Amino acid sequence: MKASEVRKRYIDFFVERGHRQIPAAPLVLPDDPTTLFTSSGMQPLVPYLMGEPYPAGKRLVDSQPSIRTVDIDEVGDNRHLTFFEMLGNWSLGDYFKKEQLAWIFEFFTKELSLPAERLWVSVFEGNNQVPKDQESVEVWEKLGIPEKRICYYGVEKNWWSRSGTPVQMPVGEIGGPDSEVFFEFTQVKHDSRYGKTCHPNCDCGRFLEIGNSVFMQYKKVGDNKLEELPNKNVDFGGGLERITAVVNNTPDVFATDLFKPVIKSLEELFKVNYGDSEENDRSLRIIADHLRAAYMLIANDVLSSNKTQGYVLRRLIRRSVLHVRLLTKSDRLGLPVVEFGSFGIPIRLKDTNGVGSIIQEEAGKFVKALGRGMKKLEEAVSKKEKITGDFVFDLYQTDGFPLEISLEVLERHGREFTEEDKKLFEEDFEKHKETSRTTSAGVFKGGLADHSAEVIKLHTATHLLLASLRKVLGEHVVQKGQNITRERARFDFPNPEKLTDEQIKKVEGMVNEVIKKDLPVNFKVMVKEEAEKTGAIHAFGEKYADTVKVYYVGENFDTAFSKEFCGGPHVSSTGKIGGVRIKKVETIGVNLRRMYVVLDG
Ligand code: SER
Repeated sequence: MKASEVRKRYIDFFVERGHRQIPAAPLVLPDDPTTLFTSSGMQPLVPYLMGEPYPAGKRLVDSQPSIRTVDIDEVGDNRHLTFFEMLGNWSLGDYFKKEQLAWIFEFFTKELSLPAERLWVSVFEGNNQVPKDQESVEVWEKLGIPEKRICYYGVEKNWWSRSGTPVQMPVGEIGGPDSEVFFEFTQVKHDSRYGKTCHPNCDCGRFLEIGNSVFMQYKKVGDNKLEELPNKNVDFGGGLERITAVVNNTPDVFATDLFKPVIKSLEELFKVNYGDSEENDRSLRIIADHLRAAYMLIANDVLSSNKTQGYVLRRLIRRSVLHVRLLTKSDRLGLPVVEFGSFGIPIRLKDTNGVGSIIQEEAGKFVKALGRGMKKLEEAVSKKEKITGDFVFDLYQTDGFPLEISLEVLERHGREFTEEDKKLFEEDFEKHKETSRTTSAGVFKGGLADHSAEVIKLHTATHLLLASLRKVLGEHVVQKGQNITRERARFDFPNPEKLTDEQIKKVEGMVNEVIKKDLPVNFKVMVKEEAEKTGAIHAFGEKYADTVKVYYVGENFDTAFSKEFCGGPHVSSTGKIGGVRIKKVETIGVNLRRMYVVLDG
């Protein structure tokens, strides 16, 4: 069965049950700055799930093109994709578990004729906030799923929100327990590398998740606090590509009609056979998936760049170019011209004619750098050089190799990296990136070179410093300028006389004492006039917005050691600073002193 047929049957099935078909949203939501891409069907519906009435009614159905970049490293196996289509149906406070589970079961077993004995389901096992989902268990049992094929999991697997588990949800976010349906490929043997026993959420490939009914009924309202939403909603999502694979009894989404023609033209072009080698299959899948995603992004008006959506597009294209190189061992080739057509996707694609040539052009730019970068990497491998953060950053800066490409090439050459190693590279890499960005742009926002741990510590330390200077020297001390790097904080302030050694020691001692007390650092958002009345320090003559943030150090706002207008960021408590040392104080003008402070502890 073709994917377009699966899509049609799903939409018709739910329309027949009173649902209104709604148009798909674009891949980049214009009014949602919180996410880069539409990554699920519910995303454009969030206000309605929260209780706002939806003009088209309470039962909705659609097919939503989505991008999930978190899955980008998983692409290459037989089931992960960056771009996919999500079939979705919703009840906005209308029907609930009984109807939803019965319908989805009927759709899978009757409409798509999936053998019921191959379906397994999972339900939420309950925790101290939300009870075990006994209601779903009873519905599944009534539908004929035996106890053995009903599995219980906790928040990691059977809780859904855009940001993950209840703890990970920010205040205001909605979520709920869910019940998933899995298809069992009895022809796939369990791979014990993934664990002793197989179960629906095992990653060995024997099971494939094909649908997720979320019972969207909670909103996070505070630390560890969930509140019931005005409505009990249903939010179902199922990947079209996966469902199509299952209907055709293959665990491989790349074997469906959505990808077959692309894989076939890649096979011909590169003279390889899909299915012959694990390594080549992986490259073929990555090229097919990434080009498809790139194509969709460009058709949604995304242009490649160094930032946000554009950077994702660039990475997708570069990674495809890399895999062409790995497949063909030739560094002259760019990207194949692949005809994707419109995939029959129900989304309005703007001027798809030019898309192929935009991809080609972007790929072409990377081909030269790829050759150079590969040479450097291969040399490092043959000389058995130690791979450092500096090395991978240089590859990024001079040859445009994103970190994951370098690591991928090195792994192909037999270098092994543990998750730890990788995290260290990432941190190192980010540090370099941030430093080079701020240095080249000359940006010192609020006097901070970056938002590294050192800079944040020194930033809080300068608040303590200013408060201490005012206590020791007098209230004439204000901040005349600051510049904080990872190495030191530089702080300018007016004082008629040169500071005595004794005064310096006293200030330093006072700051370190507050650090030792490990006082909390918090802020309040206040109306500017109110904030001024509290005596919080602010720079005179500076233009502040009508509402301001006041950072304070201490348990209590009124008796705080320091209160200062500031945008942050700061450490959460003073103990995190460790300790500081005043390195020197110099005179830089009439009545103007400059102090250098370093971390020391
Ligand atoms: N929002 C859920 C998901 O994305 C179900 O639609 O899995």
